[in-house]
Amino acid sequence: MLDVRNLRVEYRTAGAPYVAVHDESFAVRAGEFFTLLGPSGCGKTTTLRSVAGLETPTAGRIEIDGVPVFDGATGRAVPTHAREIAMVFQSYAIWPHMTVFENVAFPLRVKRLPGAALRRQVDEVLQMVGLGDFAERPATMLSGGQQQRVALARAIVKDAKVLLLDEPLSNLDAKLREQMRRELRRLQKHVGTTSIYVTHDQDEALSLSDRIAVMRGGRIVELGRPLDLYLRPRHTFTARFVGQAELAPCKVVQAGADAVLVETKLGRFRARVNADIGARANHLMVRPEHVVFADADADADDGTGENMLEGQIANILFSGKLVEYEVQTGQGVVSVCAASNVLRTLGEAVRLHLPPEHCVLLTDGEGGGSLGDIPGGDAAPAGPGNRRTA
Ligand SMILES: Nc1ncnc2c1ncn2[C@@H]1O[C@H](COP(=O)(O)OP(=O)(O)OP(=O)(O)O)[C@@H](O)[C@H]1O
Ligand SMILES: [Mg+2]
Repeated sequence: MLDVRNLRVEYRTAGAPYVAVHDESFAVRAGEFFTLLGPSGCGKTTTLRSVAGLETPTAGRIEIDGVPVFDGATGRAVPTHAREIAMVFQSYAIWPHMTVFENVAFPLRVKRLPGAALRRQVDEVLQMVGLGDFAERPATMLSGGQQQRVALARAIVKDAKVLLLDEPLSNLDAKLREQMRRELRRLQKHVGTTSIYVTHDQDEALSLSDRIAVMRGGRIVELGRPLDLYLRPRHTFTARFVGQAELAPCKVVQAGADAVLVETKLGRFRARVNADIGARANHLMVRPEHVVFADADADADDGTGENMLEGQIANILFSGKLVEYEVQTGQGVVSVCAASNVLRTLGEAVRLHLPPEHCVLLTDGEGGGSLGDIPGGDAAPAGPGNRRTA
């Protein structure tokens, strides 16, 4: 439905041109909820504005439903109003002098839809976003969440080929954001509009998206389903940005068919094979909620000492559902997230087990891990961007 090829966007600045998007390619399938996720300034909005035709890229090609709307090679650039898109932005951008009904009806009036059909469609969409009873209210007499729903309803009623959403929930308070997130997911699946969503909020991205493109510095680092990016990331940046991760630089000692033995400063670990990474593996990752206390797991210790860590509980952060323990080991602090049914005490000596199936091998593009460097020798093959921590 949307195809972005080798997109490059440079901004003219006083000095040299600033490259906001380097060489970005992705394709979004019909009906898909696709998210651009990344830290502030990584080029998410620039990408979205290029798709909308609000920004003129320097190079590349953009197609919507098979129709080229931008082609850097030929100079073709279809204006925004002629691209079949609808947009929702962070600021509510509704018309204050109109009622809720008229706000939502606006795109249909532009299309000169007859009165009865217009009324039916607007009513249907207002019901859908839970504003059925608010049709005649002035749009300004609404809460932030309701105003954002008006903006969403107006975008949905347009029945565009692609819906572009740039941090639409970021102005709402935490509770409302959570509620709107659920509604948005339900609505998008119900309406089935191909959607591109921009956010820097990993929870939002994980819970809403069919697929996520993780961006950094104007480039897509990794692209995949939320579950895969979380459980089997390929890059340390993804591991850190999508969830909490414990990372240690490592060196492969022995590569088998179904497990890899690696050496880290914390000891030897068996990890699952990550075929995508192969020999480039230079970091070991485990998620805090996958680390287990060995005394609570009879199968944890096989006597080899592999995948085991010893330490002391140095800090306890209670968050209700979960408890996060910071365990001080000889080489750094390891976070462990556990359910709150068995509680540990501060200073308690503990043994930790990192189950091999949850030990993931990654490749690094940006420096060392949180857990010390490996002993003696090069963890990472020397390559561009492979900074080592001292
Ligand atoms: N009009 C402009 N002129 C010059 N530089 C710009 C312009 N717009 C954006 N930039 C720069 O391009 C980069 C990407 O900006 P963009 O707005 O796409 O980031 P973003 O990922 O949407 O960030 P955020 O999460 O903060 O919204 C930033 O470094 C920004 O400063
Ligand atoms: Mg932005």
